[in-house]
Amino acid sequence: MSLLTGKKIVVMGVANKRSIAWGCAKALTDQGAEVIYTYQNERMAKQLEKLIGSEAFKVECDVASDESIKECFTKIGDYAGEIHGVVHAVAYANKEDLSGSVVDISRAGYALAQDISAYSLIAVTRYAKDYLAQNSGIVTLSYLGSQRAVPNYNMMGIAKAALEAAVRYLAADLSPQGIRVNGISAGAIKTLAVTGVKDYQKLIQLSEERTPDHVGVTIEEVGNTCAFLISPAASGIIGEVIFVDKGVHLS
Ligand SMILES: NC(=O)c1ccc[n+]([C@@H]2O[C@H](COP(=O)([O-])OP(=O)(O)OC[C@H]3O[C@@H](n4cnc5c(N)ncnc54)[C@H](O)[C@@H]3O)[C@@H](O)[C@H]2O)c1
Repeated sequence: MSLLTGKKIVVMGVANKRSIAWGCAKALTDQGAEVIYTYQNERMAKQLEKLIGSEAFKVECDVASDESIKECFTKIGDYAGEIHGVVHAVAYANKEDLSGSVVDISRAGYALAQDISAYSLIAVTRYAKDYLAQNSGIVTLSYLGSQRAVPNYNMMGIAKAALEAAVRYLAADLSPQGIRVNGISAGAIKTLAVTGVKDYQKLIQLSEERTPDHVGVTIEEVGNTCAFLISPAASGIIGEVIFVDKGVHLS
């Protein structure tokens, strides 16, 4: 018996085959779930189609817009009726705010990164909650830079700290309704998003060197934890951010 047989899970944030969201989608599928995909824009839709084909159900969702998120979940509700989980694997900051000095971050750059990378979890949860079944799960993606001053991670570290706080508050709000909100703090993985960070190679190198076998965590390993956290098997885990980084956070 698989963990998610017969469940319908929304996955937000597949840009290509390297995306953490793609690792999550594969693990959810392996556990028997039907995955419903959302994509940022038409360009991302084309990338997504290369992975899932043109027939699979997918919906546009730009998390910068409440209207887009609302419309997206209305379409998902019409299609699926009930859903059993949402994977929020979405973030953005201007490139200039992922290098140099934090004191130079502009008000506009700060607002943009917080909006897309942290507030979006709150907005997505608001529009998803009416369709989420009992004992369903929402999982978001964070990084160690929320707790430590990781060189160049700068603005995204500040946004991830807010995101992790949002996980706890949303979890407290929604657990009485049977919706569990949790996060995964993943090790550095070479994806499109991470290449926005200056000297990102050093970030990845660090995340490889500190693992026991010097091999960095994979999107499949992150995906397996995501599938577990979404599933009813994780019914006792509420408002937690779990490290899936092969121990990098220990040193
Ligand atoms: N790669 C890493 O090292 C790492 C480590 C820890 C956490 N994370 C987090 O994992 C998540 C997924 O990132 P990834 O590394 O797989 O990179 P990715 O580039 O594959 O995915 C980022 C996704 O965010 C989406 N996105 C950006 N702005 C959006 C918007 N306005 N509306 C809708 N979608 C939008 C993009 O379309 C893309 O699909 C992010 O939250 C990231 O911060 C990444």
